[in-house]
Amino acid sequence: MPVTERFLVTGALGCIGAWTVRELVREGTPVVAFDLAADPRRLRLIMSPDELDAVTFATGDIAEASTIPDLLDEHGITHIVHLAALQIPFCRADPPLGARVNVVGTVNVFEAARRRLDQVHGLVYASSIAVFDAADADARTGYVADGDAGHPTTHYGVYKQANEGNARVYWQEGGLASVGLRPMTVFGVGRDQGLTSAPTRAIVAALVGRPFEIGFSGRTLFQYTADVGRTFVMAARSGLDGARIFNLGGSNAAIAEVVAAIEAAVPEAAGLIRITGDPLPFPDRIDASGADALGPLPVTPIGSAVAQTVDLLRELQANGRLDPLEHGLPAA
Ligand SMILES: NC(=O)c1ccc[n+]([C@@H]2O[C@H](COP(=O)([O-])OP(=O)(O)OC[C@H]3O[C@@H](n4cnc5c(N)ncnc54)[C@H](O)[C@@H]3O)[C@@H](O)[C@H]2O)c1
Repeated sequence: MPVTERFLVTGALGCIGAWTVRELVREGTPVVAFDLAADPRRLRLIMSPDELDAVTFATGDIAEASTIPDLLDEHGITHIVHLAALQIPFCRADPPLGARVNVVGTVNVFEAARRRLDQVHGLVYASSIAVFDAADADARTGYVADGDAGHPTTHYGVYKQANEGNARVYWQEGGLASVGLRPMTVFGVGRDQGLTSAPTRAIVAALVGRPFEIGFSGRTLFQYTADVGRTFVMAARSGLDGARIFNLGGSNAAIAEVVAAIEAAVPEAAGLIRITGDPLPFPDRIDASGADALGPLPVTPIGSAVAQTVDLLRELQANGRLDPLEHGLPAA
């Protein structure tokens, strides 16, 4: 008998979470949006009131052992997209809390799923390209591949590595299949915090006519929020065996190219955005071919992603709903 899908998205009120929930609602799949936070402000930026009404919201702490089991039982969850985590600056500021949320929280998700193998048919979690240091790239080609050894230089990257290892053991010892995806620089409405959020925040600054500094240079792999949400849903449904881990593909671009794309879409902002600082401490050439196992994944080129993001933000602005504070800019 075909399974009637019911998705649980953890960290659902975050950036990727909001786009994942939107994807599920638009295709008509029931979804429970779980988060420590209670204000679905990022979802409101990208979803209509009717779409929001279709979401079941649940609030709690993923690091509490009973939270996920209770949610799986109460809502008969069949697929899990696990995104809840603290990003690099927050892990750096409070490593014990980072370990509790990012590692213990993830083990709680896996443990609850392992105890319900007949019920949970898909589990995907967000790892990160931060499991690698820039020096982990192949000296000859400059690329990192899915199976390369990573030597992360942040607690955050080490926590993500621990999650990948725990996923492997849950498969080997518990028969729980999972897919871990490693995004790099997610870009789009709702990307208002974290190390690599600056290119998105720069668009908001451009639209409100403020100077803005992007604190890193060089190139990175950009992943458009809408693509990322859709990809996590596809991965949850992949039905693949094993503890799979895939680098996530996207649009490789120089920060300067992105600034040029922003200036093309918001010409009145020419000269407002400056690029300073070193390149990001991660590889910028990513072999993401392994993720082809998930099917044809959406990749919006960075120029279109910038244009679509500008359009969405302009719409909010036209309705008096573009509050710079809400997009990670300081008060004027
Ligand atoms: N954004 C990126 O570029 C990027 C890159 C690589 C990996 N990732 C990973 O993708 C996932 C989602 O990232 P994002 O950009 O949406 O982050 P985000 O910071 O926007 O969202 C994370 C969400 O997790 C929630 N959360 C934090 N602590 C929690 C707890 N104890 N219990 C329940 N919920 C809690 C937060 O309230 C927030 O809504 C994370 O695992 C992140 O590490 C993101």
